[in-house]
Amino acid sequence: MEKFVVKGGHRLTGEVVISGAKNAAVAILPAVILADTPCVIENVPSISDVTISLRILEEMGAVVTQVGKDAYRIDPTTIDKFCVPYETARKMRASYYFLGALLGKFHKARVSMPGGCPLGDRPIDQHLKAFTILGANYVIDKGVIDIKADKLTGGQIFFDMVTVGATMNAMLAAVKAEGLTVIENAAKEPHIVDLANFLNSMGANIMGAGTDVIKIRGVEHLIGTTYSVIPDQIEAGTFMVAIAATKGDAIIKNIIPKHLESITKKLEKIGVSIEQYDDSMRVWVENPLVKTNVKTAPHPGFPTDMQSQIATLLTLAQGTSIITENIWDQRFAYVDELRRMGADITVNGKVALIEGTGKLVGAPVKACDLRAGAALIIAGLAATGVTEIEDIHHIERGYDCMEGKLRALGADIEKVEFPDKEDSKKKDGDGAEG
Ligand code: EPZ
Repeated sequence: MEKFVVKGGHRLTGEVVISGAKNAAVAILPAVILADTPCVIENVPSISDVTISLRILEEMGAVVTQVGKDAYRIDPTTIDKFCVPYETARKMRASYYFLGALLGKFHKARVSMPGGCPLGDRPIDQHLKAFTILGANYVIDKGVIDIKADKLTGGQIFFDMVTVGATMNAMLAAVKAEGLTVIENAAKEPHIVDLANFLNSMGANIMGAGTDVIKIRGVEHLIGTTYSVIPDQIEAGTFMVAIAATKGDAIIKNIIPKHLESITKKLEKIGVSIEQYDDSMRVWVENPLVKTNVKTAPHPGFPTDMQSQIATLLTLAQGTSIITENIWDQRFAYVDELRRMGADITVNGKVALIEGTGKLVGAPVKACDLRAGAALIIAGLAATGVTEIEDIHHIERGYDCMEGKLRALGADIEKVEFPDKEDSKKKDGDGAEG
C-alpha cells in the first residue's frame, strides 16, 4: 500500500505545467471506436483512468501504441469484441462512454454498470433515455447493460437535469445516427466541447456544443485524425488553491483561462491575487484571505469538482463561509478528515458552514474520493506538522504525478510504501496461534 507523507509550511513557488483533462480524455479515447481509420490522441494525462480506458480498447481488439510521453496511436479497425467486463468497468465512472461509442459504431454493447467516486446516487437513466430515443433497446441483467439497435435514427433528447456523462454519451451514439438529433438542456463543460471538436475533426457534424442545445446531423464515416486533449481546468484550479493555501507565488502553465473563469473569480473574492496571460497565469497571496460563499453549479458555474479544494482554503480564511453542493448528494465526506486536522466545519445536507480558524494541524487522514484526496494534500501543505494521506489510489485516478509537480514547486511531499493491514495480519497470523 502507498501513502503520501506531507510536511507542511513550505510556500509553493516556481512553475507547474498542467496536463491534459481527465474528463475530456476518458470520453475521447472511447470515441476513437467510431473512426474508420487510426487516430493519434495527444496531451493525454498519465492517470489510472486513462490506463484503464486504453486497456479496455486493447481488450476489445484495438491496437494501442504509445507514440510519445503523452500521445497514443489507436487503431480501432481491429475491434472484434463489444463488451466491457465488470472487473474493468467497476474501476471508473467513465466506462459508460464505451456504451455510447460501441452503440454508435456497431449498434451493440455490453458494459457493466460503472463505478467511480462515491458521491451519492449516480444513476444513468438519462444515458439510457437518450439511447432509447435514438432507437436502441436494452436490458440490465446482473449489473450488465446489454444494448442493441437495428438502426439508430436522430431524435429529440431533453435531459431532466444537466448531465455531463449523458450529454457526452448522447453525442457518441448520435454522431452516425441517420438524420438530425437535438440535445436540449445539454451540459456545457469544456470537455463537452472538446469531445465535439474531436468528433468534428473526424468529419462529424455537431453544432452548438458548449451551449444548452446541441444539434447533430448523422454522417456515414468518421476518418481518424490527430487530436490534442484540452488542459485540465480542475487540475489547474487545484494548483491555484494549493499555491494560495501555502501563501505561495507561482506560475501555472498550459491553461485555457476562459475555462477557469468561475474559479478565478471566486479565488479573487477570497483575496488571492491572479494575473492571467494567454496560456498561463501567476497566482500569489499578498492580502489576508477572507470568507466567501460558494454554490456549485454546472459550467459556467463554480465546478463541483473544485468544492473540496476551495473548502480547504476557506478553513484558512477569516470569517464564516458557506458552501452549497448542488450537484451531488454526498460530496462532504472529506469534512470528517479535515476535522481531524482542526477544521471547524458543520455540514447540514447540501450545505457546509466553515469557520475560518486560519490554521490546520497535520494528522493521519484518508482520501475518500479523487478531489477529496487533492483537498487533503492541500490541507497537509498548509498545515503545521506532518500529514499522512492513505487511499491515494483515488488521487492517482485523476491527477498526473501530483506529488512530483508539487515537489517541483517546493512542497515536502513523498509517496511511501507501508504494509497493507490485511497482509500484516496474514503474516503475523490472525493471532489464533497466540
Ligand atoms: C462527470 O460525472 C464527472 N466525471 C464528474 O467528475 C463531475 O463531478 C460531474 O460530471 C459533474 O460535473 C467524469 O466526467 C468522468 P453528471 P457524471 O452526469 O457525468 C445526475 C471528478 O472529480 N444524473 O453530470 O457522472 C447525477 O446523479 C468527477 O473528476 C442522473 O440523475 O456527472 C448528478 O446528480 C467526480 N441521471 C447530476 O445528474 C443520469 O443519467 C450530474 O451528473 C446522469 C446524471
